[in-house]
Amino acid sequence: MAVFPQLRLRRLRRTESLRSMVRESELHVTDLIYPMFVEDGSRIRQEIASMPGIFRFSPDQLAGEIEEVAGLGIPAVILFGIPQHKDETGTSAYDDQGVVQQAIRIIKQSAPDLVVVTDVCLCEYTDHGHCGVVVDGHVDNDLTLPLLVKTALSHVEAGADVVAPSDMMDGRVKAIRQALDDADRADIPILAYAAKYASAFYGPFRDAADSVPQFGDRRGYQMDPANVREALREVEQDIKEGADIVIVKPALAYLDVIRRVRDTFNCPVAAYNVSGEYAMVKAAAQQGWLDEQRVTLEALTAMKRAGADIILTYHAKDVARWLQQR
Ligand code: PBG
Repeated sequence: MAVFPQLRLRRLRRTESLRSMVRESELHVTDLIYPMFVEDGSRIRQEIASMPGIFRFSPDQLAGEIEEVAGLGIPAVILFGIPQHKDETGTSAYDDQGVVQQAIRIIKQSAPDLVVVTDVCLCEYTDHGHCGVVVDGHVDNDLTLPLLVKTALSHVEAGADVVAPSDMMDGRVKAIRQALDDADRADIPILAYAAKYASAFYGPFRDAADSVPQFGDRRGYQMDPANVREALREVEQDIKEGADIVIVKPALAYLDVIRRVRDTFNCPVAAYNVSGEYAMVKAAAQQGWLDEQRVTLEALTAMKRAGADIILTYHAKDVARWLQQR
């Protein structure tokens, strides 16, 4: 085996053509899912203060944005709803006239081939801001499952292509898979937030979606950031229950988790580049402290290198443009 001076690793870095020949991971626009916030009402196009460039749209304002996303070659969006009405059991989440249900119908009209994923959770729809039914100050797992099932079914009835439960209740993938199959929708895949950590990186999202818990926090159902073996148990469980794709969330501080999941299981793995990760880059870029394009492409490429096949990211539209310019 050659060693220096015969071996020179710099030889393959001399030109961009050489570098591109030996590049191990590459970001493609087809890897991306663009998260969007839809708010019940009309004529709403409101930028989210902590997420520059990301807006809440009312359903009537969506068509233009959707055409732009589809036109950039981004294959999928994931929808989060901000309802007008919140209550104890999140009834707006499974209302046929709910904001996500309205949005799905509009999106399917303006871009029929765009994959519409819906986030299935109750936190944006409950008055207490927790992801399930609260009993005696705790989120009750088993009472929450039927409501998640109703939400998923109602999204699919409205035309959703993929459902993505993000609540972290035990057994929800199984319950949703069963209900979809019983409803003759065995064709609908489940994108499961399998390893979702109780993370402070969700801060801007909770402002965007009005979903800050009114008491306590989510550590009783989301995972402890210190754990990785437990993530593998979560992922294994979701796959056994019928998940088609698993998500690790957040992404940047959890690249080791993505790697472990990729090495242990064979299903597609998605990384969620969350709101706080986006906000940090945007804030630093606005100050002129970081090169937004280079930092973003580097971070997303790192997620691919760690083993992600799919990336959910608020940077999707920018990334699509940057990749076109290359
Ligand atoms: C709903 C949900 C959250 C996110 C996605 N789905 C918030 C949370 O769990 O508090 C976070 C997304 C982001 O920060 O970008 N449960």
